[in-house]
Amino acid sequence: MTENEKTKDGDQASQNILVAFLIKAIKIFFELLFAMVEKLFEIISLFFPTPDKEDVIKADLLNSDAVKSKVQADLSNHENGIYAGQISSNHGGKKVFIESSDRACVIGPPGTGKTTFLVNQIYHWAETQNSFVCLDVKPEIHEITRAKLEAKGYKCIVYNPTSNKDKYNFLGDLKTEESVGEIASAFIASENDNNPVFTETARDLLDAIIKHLKTPTKKEPEPLPSLANVYDFVTEFDSLKSLLARLSQSNSDDVRRITRTLKIMADNDRLLGSIFATFVSNMRFLRYQSIRDSLGADGFSLDELLKPKVALFLQFEEAQKETTAKLFSVMVGHLLRFMIINHQNRKPVLLFLDEIGNAGKIHDLTGKLNTIRSRQLPTWLYWQSTEQMQKYGQQANEGANVILGACDMHMCFRLNDNATAKWFAEKIGTQRVTKISATDGENSSNTKSIDSEFVIEPHEIQQLKMGMALYSYQGKNWMGYAKPYYQEEKENEQLQTTVN
Ligand SMILES: Nc1ncnc2c1ncn2[C@@H]1O[C@H](COP(=O)(O)OP(=O)(O)OP(=O)(O)O)[C@@H](O)[C@H]1O
Ligand SMILES: [Mg+2]
Repeated sequence: MTENEKTKDGDQASQNILVAFLIKAIKIFFELLFAMVEKLFEIISLFFPTPDKEDVIKADLLNSDAVKSKVQADLSNHENGIYAGQISSNHGGKKVFIESSDRACVIGPPGTGKTTFLVNQIYHWAETQNSFVCLDVKPEIHEITRAKLEAKGYKCIVYNPTSNKDKYNFLGDLKTEESVGEIASAFIASENDNNPVFTETARDLLDAIIKHLKTPTKKEPEPLPSLANVYDFVTEFDSLKSLLARLSQSNSDDVRRITRTLKIMADNDRLLGSIFATFVSNMRFLRYQSIRDSLGADGFSLDELLKPKVALFLQFEEAQKETTAKLFSVMVGHLLRFMIINHQNRKPVLLFLDEIGNAGKIHDLTGKLNTIRSRQLPTWLYWQSTEQMQKYGQQANEGANVILGACDMHMCFRLNDNATAKWFAEKIGTQRVTKISATDGENSSNTKSIDSEFVIEPHEIQQLKMGMALYSYQGKNWMGYAKPYYQEEKENEQLQTTVN
């Protein structure tokens, strides 16, 4: 080893000793610091003793006898009322009914008991012999209820555009010029519309075709066209220009007038191409034979619902959502409009929209919800969370705000998501809570403080028992029981055996 290497080794050894010394010093410094902080806390806690026990005095405002007797007194009207569950889960708990002018939102994640409760509501409604419409996307509700409804004299109509059940002719229920325009607007969507000219002109085209097919001719003095005929008519032509030429020969003045405007655009091929593309993409669902078959002219008419004891099940199956979403959206929008127009001289028709969040977006749902109050059209919407409502809004939370804002009754089962639980906790509101803190020992003391807390905390809503539901209606909030139909049936059978 050279002299130089010996010096290097010596330097390395002294550096190691220095590092070890520094680590030790830092360790001792922090140990001392922690000990001092600990002591400091001990001294502070002598002045502010932590309570040995704390009593929170919080009234159970959702289950109190006063609340329940108020709900019972105000909401026990059976006549045309809609069953909304029981005041408690006890056997014989009083039944609650809300008015037929109300719209209700029911929220519960999958498997919490919405549909079994809805079926119970159907059976209660059937006692009134009034008609109803039920969205059945699983489909399951028609299967469960059919026998019982038929035994009560109900006529059950099942519309399923992807299976061979009852047919429905959209065009058969269009009694006025405006209703043709309305259906054309519903079919040719305006959502996320980048170019309103294409949309509006495509609507005019559909409007003109429907009116043309509905106009009597020598050959067809009483035409009864269907959407399938619209498809056949359009596919007859190899260009939009020849289609327009045919429409300009129509027997209807109105059709010729619309066509003249459309023909002005016919000089611009690109514009015309875009209009036709908008038309075709919105009517694409007509390409499917099964859908066209379901739209036959010999289908049922919504007029049926103006009579009592008619049950219409809309089976727009979840699995076929992609192909039928447009038809669903238009059908429910059209149905609402039809019932609104024909609201006089008929009994209330109840609309159950189960799984509405999993179906396509309904054309102008919020607008219609806001106009049906006095139109004998009680409407119940069943969702899995407020998030599903977002498709009815653009800004954050707008969908939930407009939908929930249009409903009179809000009801939820055990929730999973925080946002919906928070919405309900805030809706129910806060209450003043007294907290009494007591310390034991030599310097025992009592401290009283008043605080504000949610009547029901979001986490408590996420822990509700099966069947228990939180209700908010006309300023009253309560915890009730949304009884499943089979439990009601069992109890009725038991009652029957006791009577006999
Ligand atoms: N109160 C209840 N007590 C015990 N079990 C119940 C109760 N209500 C419903 N159930 C059972 O829970 C299951 C789910 O019920 P249901 O289909 O009504 O839920 P859902 O909320 O409609 O679910 P989804 O969103 O998946 O359609 C069913 O098997 C039903 O029998
Ligand atoms: Mg269900």
